[in-house]
Amino acid sequence: MYGVLLLGIETSCDDTATAVVRDGKRVLSNVATNQDRFHEKYGGIVPEIASRQHVALLSAAVEDALARAQTRLTDMDGIAVTMGPGLIGSLVVGVASAKALAFASGKPLYAVNHLHGHVFAPFLETELEPEYPFLALLVSGGHSQLVHVASPLDMRILGRTRDDAAGEAFDKTARLLGLPFPGGPAIDALAREGNSTIKFPRHRADGDALDMSFSGLKTSVRYFLSDPKNTGVRKENVAASFQAAVVDVLMDRLERAAARYPYSLAVLSGGVAANSALQRAFTTWGVRNGVRTAIPQLRYCTDNAAMIAAVADRQGESKRADPLSVSADPNLSFEPLTSRR
Ligand code: KG4
Ligand code: ZN
Repeated sequence: MYGVLLLGIETSCDDTATAVVRDGKRVLSNVATNQDRFHEKYGGIVPEIASRQHVALLSAAVEDALARAQTRLTDMDGIAVTMGPGLIGSLVVGVASAKALAFASGKPLYAVNHLHGHVFAPFLETELEPEYPFLALLVSGGHSQLVHVASPLDMRILGRTRDDAAGEAFDKTARLLGLPFPGGPAIDALAREGNSTIKFPRHRADGDALDMSFSGLKTSVRYFLSDPKNTGVRKENVAASFQAAVVDVLMDRLERAAARYPYSLAVLSGGVAANSALQRAFTTWGVRNGVRTAIPQLRYCTDNAAMIAAVADRQGESKRADPLSVSADPNLSFEPLTSRR
């Protein structure tokens, strides 16, 4: 929407994030307070700790986003917040705060789906505009999906993981390798020093389904590491081989989806979109097939509030603001927005 300023709030998992975005595109401020240090020693996110940290951090993060953008709450045209999916204790902190801000300021409230935010993150701070329909490969710690995007309010899942998300596989495999949490960046870095010499399995659905699977891959890595005859194998090679298997599965699914519809644009998004090998494979595929590709800047790949404000802006062109009675929904479904409203 032209000239529209939105405050974005994202607390679906363990990042306390706020942002001010103009026209769904220009990021005037993007504040992300990472909680990794509180969760690291547990090897994963502890929901209770995450929600308590959001309570402690969110008010200051809102102030910070407004101040960095040199704006005030009264300058905003609305408040956008993630209503789901995610951890319930984390989501309610963001939703309750957004409702309070909307009530106090009289500004409209936009409650959006976190995953829709990821789909539109690649258009932040670029000249690129979506050409509908486009194909989105969404790969994060909680989700792995291929999405047909017909409009900001009309998206259809073409294929999804049947078990672990790609990011989850990175995190669990990193743990097996004794790497710190979150595992994705650690495996990415280690893989750069190794070669993909080990042939780990590539699991995907047969036939027409575009689904994928990553839990068998993680188990194969575990068996490989516990086999005494592999004790001398370099961790770098295990990391590179695991990563190559994930990238192969994702690219295979993407190619299949693209063969069914003549997309002129494909986007890669979610935390795992930060992966260097996946980015290389995705970009090369686009060049070879004449499909424009877009990947968000690193800070917009992982969870952030700018993407929440951005998607609220795009959806707000054709949907009304939400009532203050809206609730957080940890299981919010990706698909028919139209039937929800
Ligand atoms: O989108 P995101 O920030 O949070 C969720 O909504 O899940 O994604 C986090 C996930 C984690 O699993 C993390 O390990 C993974 O993204 N990740 C990566 C990389 N950077 C983050 N995975 C592979 N390679 C990376 N460079
Ligand atoms: Zn996410």
